[in-house]
Amino acid sequence: MHIRVLGSAAGGGFPQWNCNCRQCAGVRAGSLRAQRRTQSSIALSDNGVDWVLCNASPDIRVQLESFPALQPARQLRDTAIAGIILMDSQIDHCTGLLSLREGCPHAVWCTERVHQDLSSGFPLFNMLTHWNGGLQWQPIGLDRAPFSIAACAHLEFRAIPLVSNAPPYSPNRGNPQPGDTIGLFIEDRRSGASLFYAPGLGQVDDELLGWMQRADCLLLDGTLWRDDEMRLCEVGQSLGRDMGHLAQSGPGGMLEVLEGFPRQRKVLIHINNTNPILDPDSAERAELERRGIEVAYDGLHIDL
Ligand code: MLT
Ligand code: MN
Ligand code: ZN
Repeated sequence: MHIRVLGSAAGGGFPQWNCNCRQCAGVRAGSLRAQRRTQSSIALSDNGVDWVLCNASPDIRVQLESFPALQPARQLRDTAIAGIILMDSQIDHCTGLLSLREGCPHAVWCTERVHQDLSSGFPLFNMLTHWNGGLQWQPIGLDRAPFSIAACAHLEFRAIPLVSNAPPYSPNRGNPQPGDTIGLFIEDRRSGASLFYAPGLGQVDDELLGWMQRADCLLLDGTLWRDDEMRLCEVGQSLGRDMGHLAQSGPGGMLEVLEGFPRQRKVLIHINNTNPILDPDSAERAELERRGIEVAYDGLHIDL
């Protein structure tokens, strides 16, 4: 299984266009030795030719430009995107669908609740019907049944309902139910190698821990170091737990959770621009290194 990180930042990217926090200003000024990052998305493939996009970020155009494997190579109008799976209906995970309109129809896998949001508050499914067949909804059930995508038939996907939060525009905001956010457990049927991917994860429970134990590689929500980081940086009032993101530090935080996974390759993704782990010279980054936890960057490629 080939895993390509297209975008490793949380909503807003890094630097965020309107942000003058220490890190956004520092990366612009060149005084912070940190990599720029686009918004959250990965691509998966079993053959290196056909790819499944997990989330479609507002930065998709530059992400496609930076990864030749996804570019047209066979016909006059062409794409290597064989299917799209949405983890949720968040703006940073869906807006890229608008930029893919020239290539419609696209098969889009998502849950009923995500489809509902994208047919009402942010009606991408309705709008895009006007572009050559638009988005063809492939429902994801919540029964953990494996599903596959024809062009990547060696990959077996399973959706695991997660507790996070629905987007601010959704009627489900503040009262998330199963199906508002999923994680993906993906296994390569040939090798048995597996990935657990969850860019939005607010709470862990026993079922989730079980899927994580089964996986060889964990690509997990790395939004915030501290639950109150937005307040500390004076950029907002929301706590991580309000937004549905489990912070890394503190009791019960992601670092503590990951202590139970010595065998797995552990990578944080969907990192907010305020998170000090983006600074390779920070004490927080050193702490991750001590714990064997990596920080995803745009262009990170993992073969399992
Ligand atoms: C989130 O992950 O909480 C959202 O994507 C934030 C946003 O809307 O940018
Ligand atoms: Mn997000
Ligand atoms: Zn910032």
